Amino acid sequence: MLSFTPPGHKQGAGVDPDVRRLLGQEIFEHDVLASGGLDDRRMRGGYLQDAEELMADAVHADHTFFTTCGSSLSVKAAMLSVAGPGEQLLISRDAHKSVVAALILSGIEPVWVEPRWDDERHLAHPPSADEYAAAFARAPRARGALVTSPTPYGGCADLRRVAEVCHRHGRPLIVDEAWGAHLPFHQDLPAWAMDAGADVCVTSIHKMGSGLEQGSVFHLQGDLVEPQVLRNRADLMGTTSPSVLLYAAMDGWRRQMALHGHELIGHALATAGELRRAIERIDGLHVNDARDFCGPDRADDLDPLPVVVDLSGPTLSGYRAADWLREHRSINVHIADHRRINVQITHADSRLTTEPLLRALRDLVDTASGWDKAPVVAVPSADGLRMEQACLPRDAFFARPRTSPSSRRRGAWPRRW
Ligand SMILES: Cc1ncc(COP(=O)(O)O)c(C=O)c1O
Repeated sequence: MLSFTPPGHKQGAGVDPDVRRLLGQEIFEHDVLASGGLDDRRMRGGYLQDAEELMADAVHADHTFFTTCGSSLSVKAAMLSVAGPGEQLLISRDAHKSVVAALILSGIEPVWVEPRWDDERHLAHPPSADEYAAAFARAPRARGALVTSPTPYGGCADLRRVAEVCHRHGRPLIVDEAWGAHLPFHQDLPAWAMDAGADVCVTSIHKMGSGLEQGSVFHLQGDLVEPQVLRNRADLMGTTSPSVLLYAAMDGWRRQMALHGHELIGHALATAGELRRAIERIDGLHVNDARDFCGPDRADDLDPLPVVVDLSGPTLSGYRAADWLREHRSINVHIADHRRINVQITHADSRLTTEPLLRALRDLVDTASGWDKAPVVAVPSADGLRMEQACLPRDAFFARPRTSPSSRRRGAWPRRW
């Protein structure tokens, strides 16, 4: 077809030759408008709708919506569908930045639910169902609840029980399952939100799946949230120029999982298991497993694909280890913190990727034996980190900032801004 529409590169014809050489002609060839390009002006081909319905079918949802604006948009759309200005929403305190952005945009009042903080390992796991029950008792008018599960460290909530608590109050549960695109496709993984009875769930297809960056979906089931309301909220904030490349990659992931998901995710689980055992054998390194992360005061379940390596044995900083691996072995790890790195395994990994990683980790431990020990970071307990919720996040965001003298002193945490 000849296009007298955006994108102005006209399927690559106008692209600078050096750019085309670097990025490839095909990207530009397939970069067409969604309506009035891939589909007609009125989307009568139904390509997007078909892809969304097939995805819903694959993950047992009633409705699925695609967005090309990341889970950052999906989270906001989900929250704005459940609560409005001045209304309360129960939110686990380990929420992603997009949750805070939604609070600011909407004027929703957060009722914070405490995650389960591991004082020994210095990390947070999702709150228990009992914490949500207690939060509903404190805030009976709350419009619903949001939980992040899995966390980027792999800790999962008991979604079934959290959903039951919400439904006892006739309220919907939103699950930020940004890290869980793979969960529906293998029975040895923790339960995923739709199967556990959640109402809305948000998934980044680019994080654990084969989507292009920014590809995100949100799923809906039950009758506590209107599909049209959810679609409208997303439409309000989304781009009017979605990338069909992103849509196509999401649809491709769904197809790949529907056809080969069990085998591919099974392979990823085996790869992660082998890697976990091999890292554990490296002097001083410890891989956190369910014995470390799961229990009554910790997570309810664990996704084993994020392989979390504790470096506190050789007193290494995760930041320095991550920088060394990138600079000297061209290896990027996922999360680095003051005492850990997190090596994310997906269906794309195999010994081809884990063997160089293992060699690099052995070299890291050898090299680091000559380094000064990382300073021990005195992480305060969860109580010590909490500030009073003095006003709505929206009011705080738009208020005139004032520097309080105590906040200038190093280490002093002002109780009020
Ligand atoms: C828990 C969680 N939710 C939501 C998001 C936002 O996802 P995206 O990067 O797709 O916008 C992230 C991103 O890291 C995340 O970790």
